[in-house]
Amino acid sequence: MRHSFMRLLHIALGLIHLFSIEETTGQHVSFHRGAVSAAHPLAVEAGLEILKSGGNAIDAAVAVHFALASVYQIAGNVAGGGFAVVHVPDGRILTLDFRETAPAAAYDSMYAYLMARYPDTKPSLEGATSVGIPGSVAGLFALHDSLGSLPWHRCLQPAIQLADSHRLTPYMASQWLRHTSDIKRISGFLPSFLLHDDSLYPGQLVRQSELANLLRRIAAFGPDSFYHGTFALQMADFLQTHGGVHTAEDFASYQPVWRKPELIPYRGYLIATMPLPSAGGIGLRHFCGMSESLNLHRIKPYSPRYAHYFAEMAKRVYAHRHKYLGDPRDTDPDILSRITSDTYIRQMASSISPTFRTPSAAFGTPSPASIESFETTHYCTADSTGLLVSITTTLNGYFGSKLYFHGMFFNNEMDDFSTLPGQSNQFGLPFSTANKVRPNRRMLSSMTPAILLHRGLPIAAVGTPGGTTIITNIFQVLELMSRGWPLEKAIDQKKLHAQWLPDELIVENGALNPTTIKKLQKMGYQIREIEQIGIFNAIYITPNRNFVPLADSKRKGDSCASGW
Ligand code: GLY
Repeated sequence: MRHSFMRLLHIALGLIHLFSIEETTGQHVSFHRGAVSAAHPLAVEAGLEILKSGGNAIDAAVAVHFALASVYQIAGNVAGGGFAVVHVPDGRILTLDFRETAPAAAYDSMYAYLMARYPDTKPSLEGATSVGIPGSVAGLFALHDSLGSLPWHRCLQPAIQLADSHRLTPYMASQWLRHTSDIKRISGFLPSFLLHDDSLYPGQLVRQSELANLLRRIAAFGPDSFYHGTFALQMADFLQTHGGVHTAEDFASYQPVWRKPELIPYRGYLIATMPLPSAGGIGLRHFCGMSESLNLHRIKPYSPRYAHYFAEMAKRVYAHRHKYLGDPRDTDPDILSRITSDTYIRQMASSISPTFRTPSAAFGTPSPASIESFETTHYCTADSTGLLVSITTTLNGYFGSKLYFHGMFFNNEMDDFSTLPGQSNQFGLPFSTANKVRPNRRMLSSMTPAILLHRGLPIAAVGTPGGTTIITNIFQVLELMSRGWPLEKAIDQKKLHAQWLPDELIVENGALNPTTIKKLQKMGYQIREIEQIGIFNAIYITPNRNFVPLADSKRKGDSCASGW
């Protein structure tokens, strides 16, 4: 069953290729009209369908976003949030923040209070108390309102059809199976197609009529049908019944925000990415600046010296993130301009010794922490007018809060705030005053959708899930590209991750050879090998302006890319 289903999907995508191939570059096919890369083949098909109907890359992004909500429910979302980086035909880069916000009644010690009162619960991770006010519907609508070309309702049609009926991939069948009992425990019931969870299998037909109806309303009436009126009241009631403090007013007052992009010159390239409340822009600026000071490009990638410099830079990036970064409204602009100045970043680099490891405690008091699982998703779209779109979106954990309502899962983004003094969040990040829970504020994120430019022209859109590993992963891909590596090789390369705390170097299996690992251990490194870091989706643009859609085929998941 699994085999024949996957074959059908591949044949369908193969046919798309066959009728649209323009040229072949290495193993990859390039296209001149448009391209889509996303975490699920059916979402890629949705984006291509819209491009072929005369839509532009923004229309395709709307189609992909809501298709992911229908078929990739671990991270695709209606009730999540994210960030968009867009290159527009006149050469401008726009960035839209549709990150979730804390409800107005949230306060800094709310999770300490909830934990004391209900010691056996995980209030920032599960259920209504973990839910931030979602930004995706408003965000995608704002993008479309400014830059879309097809009618909004048309862009949601593929997602509605997929919600009505699609077949499970083996990966998604396994994800539903893994999380079904938690979903049932937290929501109190299961979506109807999961009622007989022992029969979940690859190729199974999934019918989500509630989700299809919700998407139909959003398609017909836009974000007002979500943030205002009956549905907003129902969401607030439902969340309050489950222990949340959300009100209809919280939904009514949600606004996405156009922000000034973070533009980072790096070895002849320009990286365009998100400013706060993403820590990605400032983190990448720190990484890129320090690596230029250290002449990292002269050091063999994934050698002991490279891994040491990488880990030392990462410690400094994350210690700064922890100390200074949060919602932009609470962050002192003078401090921000000081810590992002070239002089300051050179000083950060000059504190790195080529031979000695700095213990994390040098930057503050360590606390016990570990990196756990994390899920988010990235997609990119491109068209021949010059629109290039790079979007990372999330529910935070797998299926977010695991609270199911009208066919959608609410996010558990509140855990991205620093919720408990003295304790770490699911990514192992310790408590930070800069990122403490405040009413109506956005929680700090690591999502780093990026567009890479060379000589003023965009040459790639890239992004990956992976919580705190996103920033380190994106940096490694861009650093390898700046050495002349093809993007697909940089994506395939096994990666490293480190952050200030826990004080360890995380190694994706195979990134470092055993001799290198031994040398690093002698320097005092705690090494932890893990199976997978992130999963990239990207579009590369060739010098003759053709698109090479790229999906990460080396790591687990349904990542897919195609064009026409
Ligand atoms: N929820 C993961 C992130 O925003 O970085």
